[in-house]
Amino acid sequence: MKAVAVRPGIKNSAFVADIPEPKLDDVADGRGVLVRTLQVGIDATDSEINEALYGAAPKGDDYLVLGHEVFGRVEAVGPNVTHLKVGDYCTSTVRRPGPTIYDKIGRNDITSHHEYYERGINLLHGFLTEKFVDDAEFMVKVPAGLASLGVLSEPASVCAKAIEQAYLAQQRLQVWEPKIAFVTGAGQIGQLTTMMLRLRGLEVYTLARTRNPGLKQELVEAYGGHYVSTLDTPMLELAEKVGAPDLIIEATGSSAVAFEAMQALNRNGALVWTSVTGGDRKLNDFPADKVNLEWVLGNKLLVGSVNGNRHHFAKGIADLGLGDVMFPGVTQRILTTPFDGFGNPQDLFTALEDRDNLKVYVNVAE
Ligand code: BGC
Ligand code: ZN
Repeated sequence: MKAVAVRPGIKNSAFVADIPEPKLDDVADGRGVLVRTLQVGIDATDSEINEALYGAAPKGDDYLVLGHEVFGRVEAVGPNVTHLKVGDYCTSTVRRPGPTIYDKIGRNDITSHHEYYERGINLLHGFLTEKFVDDAEFMVKVPAGLASLGVLSEPASVCAKAIEQAYLAQQRLQVWEPKIAFVTGAGQIGQLTTMMLRLRGLEVYTLARTRNPGLKQELVEAYGGHYVSTLDTPMLELAEKVGAPDLIIEATGSSAVAFEAMQALNRNGALVWTSVTGGDRKLNDFPADKVNLEWVLGNKLLVGSVNGNRHHFAKGIADLGLGDVMFPGVTQRILTTPFDGFGNPQDLFTALEDRDNLKVYVNVAE
């Protein structure tokens, strides 16, 4: 069957590969689920892998099948699978367990092992293929009523985790009622985070650098947030104007913005970093003494957040559903850039370079 793969370590190597079909009993103990892939989302991580900056093939293979954002339909299940049946819509989590205690308790998303196993990213083949088999343990059902948003399950899980981490960590304060949130970045993660924070009733300012924000601004405003171009109003100026944010979720992909956010955060606030910054940028005039002082005197918190486990997927999917009730049709508009079939895989990465394309995804089957 067909799949889109790369040769890790070789730049722009994405190609259509011919790989063996998976079998239900590739997974032990009757827990296999065979899935027909319907849609696969592509993101900046896939670009980094295609640019040979990131990612590794499974041991013994010289190619890596891409795709970690999947939406599919169950074709067959093993005898010990109870929460999915043939015909169900579903998604799969990305990370698989390593050897640490966190992996053993289902928290692969916070593994403390230096090496991590992620489908379509690191050491495991991904989902950008006609069919795949997975262990039911890592699969989450998508309700039929949400089928049109199913391909956003994985990005939604990343947002749900980032927000949950902040709320969990802020229990250190005994009382925390955040009022103002800044979301930095208005791409897919910024949009979904804006939606989720609006569902929690926060005043949300979504910041991005674009001069002609178009759809990005429309979506933020349709979610009831405020779109701010940092070319007009830099983050620190905004904080002076509207009040310092109690919560910042950083999702621009820029480490400079991540550090700038440290200067904007309110006392007792939480800043969550989610950008995976593969480069080697240095910052020279960062006001380290000032930030250190204010951080200490203000009891501020910085949390890094990556990946999502099945609980975060379930939460993300639930929020996609609630979001669609509260803001009908808005999230659908994130799905800007579909490709039908595998075609020329390099076109996917060209499409990703255009920042106006919020979600690039492949329709693999009807
Ligand atoms: C994926 C996460 C993954 C991270 C690091 C992101 O693009 O969405 O699931 O943990 O990359 O590899
Ligand atoms: Zn991703």
